[in-house]
Amino acid sequence: MFFVGLFIHLIFLFSIFDIYFKSPIVKDVVPYQPKHEAVADRLVLFIVDGLRAESFVNYTTMPYMRSVANSIGRWGISNTQVPTESRPGHVAVIAGFYEDPSAVAKGWKENPVDFDSVFNQTKHTWCWGAYDIVNIFTKGHDDHITGNVFDPYDSSFSTSQNTTLLDAWVFHSVSDLFLSAKKNEEEADKLSKKKIIFFLHLLGTDTSGHTHKPKTPNFLTQLRYVDEGIKEVEKVIREYYGDDGKTTFLMTSDHGMTDWGSHGSGDDHETQTPYVVWGAGINTIYNGGTSDPATLSMSLDHRLDLNQADLAPLMSTILSIPVPVNSIGEVRIELLNMTLSNKALAVYSNSRQLAAQYNKKRLDIETDAISYIYQPYNPLTRDKYDEIISFTEKLVLEENFEQLILFSEEIIRLSLAGLRYYHNYYQGPLLILVTLSFMGWIAYLLKIVLTQKINVDPGSPNFKRTLRFYGVPVTELLNIIFSILCFTSFCIVCVQNLPMQYYVYFLMPILLWWYALSPLHVWIKAIRKLKENKSTYTLFVEIISYIVGSFAMGLSFTYRWMLSIPLLGMAVWPFMSSSGKHLNKKLLPAWSCGCLALSIFSFMPVVGKNVYIELVVIAGLFWLAMIAIYTKSVLLNKRKDKDEYRREIILNIIQMVLLIISLQNIYVQSKRFDNGTPVSTWYQIIAWFIAGKHNNFFFLLKYILQ
Ligand SMILES: *[C@@H]1O[C@H](CO)[C@@H](O)[C@H](O)[C@H]1NC(C)=O
Ligand SMILES: *[C@@H]1O[C@H](CO)[C@@H](O)[C@H](O)[C@H]1NC(C)=O
Ligand SMILES: *[C@@H]1O[C@H](CO)[C@@H](O)[C@H](O)[C@H]1NC(C)=O
Ligand SMILES: *[C@@H]1O[C@H](CO)[C@@H](O)[C@H](O)[C@H]1NC(C)=O
Ligand SMILES: [Zn+2]
Repeated sequence: MFFVGLFIHLIFLFSIFDIYFKSPIVKDVVPYQPKHEAVADRLVLFIVDGLRAESFVNYTTMPYMRSVANSIGRWGISNTQVPTESRPGHVAVIAGFYEDPSAVAKGWKENPVDFDSVFNQTKHTWCWGAYDIVNIFTKGHDDHITGNVFDPYDSSFSTSQNTTLLDAWVFHSVSDLFLSAKKNEEEADKLSKKKIIFFLHLLGTDTSGHTHKPKTPNFLTQLRYVDEGIKEVEKVIREYYGDDGKTTFLMTSDHGMTDWGSHGSGDDHETQTPYVVWGAGINTIYNGGTSDPATLSMSLDHRLDLNQADLAPLMSTILSIPVPVNSIGEVRIELLNMTLSNKALAVYSNSRQLAAQYNKKRLDIETDAISYIYQPYNPLTRDKYDEIISFTEKLVLEENFEQLILFSEEIIRLSLAGLRYYHNYYQGPLLILVTLSFMGWIAYLLKIVLTQKINVDPGSPNFKRTLRFYGVPVTELLNIIFSILCFTSFCIVCVQNLPMQYYVYFLMPILLWWYALSPLHVWIKAIRKLKENKSTYTLFVEIISYIVGSFAMGLSFTYRWMLSIPLLGMAVWPFMSSSGKHLNKKLLPAWSCGCLALSIFSFMPVVGKNVYIELVVIAGLFWLAMIAIYTKSVLLNKRKDKDEYRREIILNIIQMVLLIISLQNIYVQSKRFDNGTPVSTWYQIIAWFIAGKHNNFFFLLKYILQ
């Protein structure tokens, strides 16, 4: 029984991954070779790990980046998705898709699945950075992606050191490459190729944000250091190539950071990252007059916000290399200075890449699906797909570029919607199955409770005979129905080649309900008994209340105020319920008032990470007053009657003393923390003593007093 329960709950847990968190990677998609001219020969990508948009626009600590963004470059906010961690952020920028959380769970350092990236499509890519990020992209592509990594957990970079050391390593290594290339022919040859990328992963800001928190002078120093480093690297590269105007630069970040130095969830500070793009082929805006006071006068005309995954096709377009096959980004062609024909061909390349991905995903599901129950994505079925692709190919030949842009945009829209459709193709059925399993499990438990409570013997033979449906014994009828159901679902999974775990998802609800309903007379008898005890009306009301309450609990994950609804229900509960009649007259209104008071809290703002130590102290003082009043008015009056009360008074007094000590302890410690002074060991020992020995101490005391 215990193991059945454990197994079922593990299945429920893992079903989440099949329902919501499936890998978006489609295998074996053929890349589309673009036909437009590249706007640059090489691209330099700076990813400033953990730099949030707010730190960029609301501070002047990155003067070089800001001046570039406001003059020759373009900038904007790149919106990331949760989880806001380094790995998925880099994958979104460099490969153009949002990794599912299961990939994150499978490991940071290992690359669980090999995927295509912008780097993979280049002639050569040089990467510098922390090994756990760089290795995601170099693994398996050693021939044309060079990784230069450091170990951020090494003692020379430990948190007691200056975090700028991490970025200094990267900047120096880049300069070294260009220095050595002046003497090394082979290296110089590689560097002179077209379609190459230099990728600089700057981890220092993330480490600094975690240890010092954004907004602190330490963090801002780090930003200033990175800003100067970027300026320096740009100079080195421009000089090496003799300022040939063929280099594009892109600075962005993988994720943001909260005020208290964390990231991972969906807070605005975490999901909004800045990007600045400048150099060759960027569509410069000369009349950047309107400045935005909300962003400390960054130029509004230069701003274009996009999704993080849109950066991957942007980089591919700049170098005219195939967009990574699993990218779901859309190239923002407004950012680039291109002729109409190049623009059209670039957007068309993006649309073909998305269409190929969609088509492969459609085929994967279509080939295995049973044709009777298969529901294709109607706006882009196989015939429509073939038709629209051959039509656009004709437009390319006819050089009808305005039409081509319109059709390409339509293909992009349809492919993205179609990808979503097939990605969630089995989501609905799986949700229904898991819900049925859940209800089956509840029924299963209920049956066990019922057989124990109302003492119906499941094996009693006279019931088996009496329950008939058109002459057939109901028990046998049930067995037949469930056997057929088992068989058909087995076939459905088998024929469609679904993964192994789908057998469990399909068979579990059937088996659970089969077992739960099996001797049907248990339920009939139970319902009869229930009817004897209660009127149908109250039963109905109770069921409705439970359902509404459960819904409110579920919705409260999104709407916190929903929590107040069950609380309001609980406030009126004693008046409705039969058990309420046995309660004390004074207790009834107190209960209701308590529930009402509690329901106010779900409307208040969340506490967040700001410490209001005063609130803690006030709560403690309030509690102290309560104990004092109770001791005085209740216990002291009864003192003479019994020995027991005397003991309780002594215990209460000791408790009050301990409370005062711990309040003072908390207050002093938090003040010390704010000032950055180390936590006192002496206070720490007291705190552990109060927390740990509290209970033992009281037992001991009780023993002595007795
Ligand atoms: C910049 O600061 C202002 C005022 O503190 C705030 O309203 C705004 O949202 C901030 N900008 C960003 C991008 O966070
Ligand atoms: C890398 O690019 C090559 C050439 O386009 C392609 O054949 C290969 O499949 C790509 N690698 C991955 C993992 O997609
Ligand atoms: C870290 O180094 C930078 C530049 O070398 C310096 O400006 C800064 O003050 C240092 N920060 C700390 C906390 O030592
Ligand atoms: C676009 O490029 C052309 C030629 O390369 C140049 O003359 C023009 O000024 C550029 N336009 C913008 C807006 O950058
Ligand atoms: Zn981090």
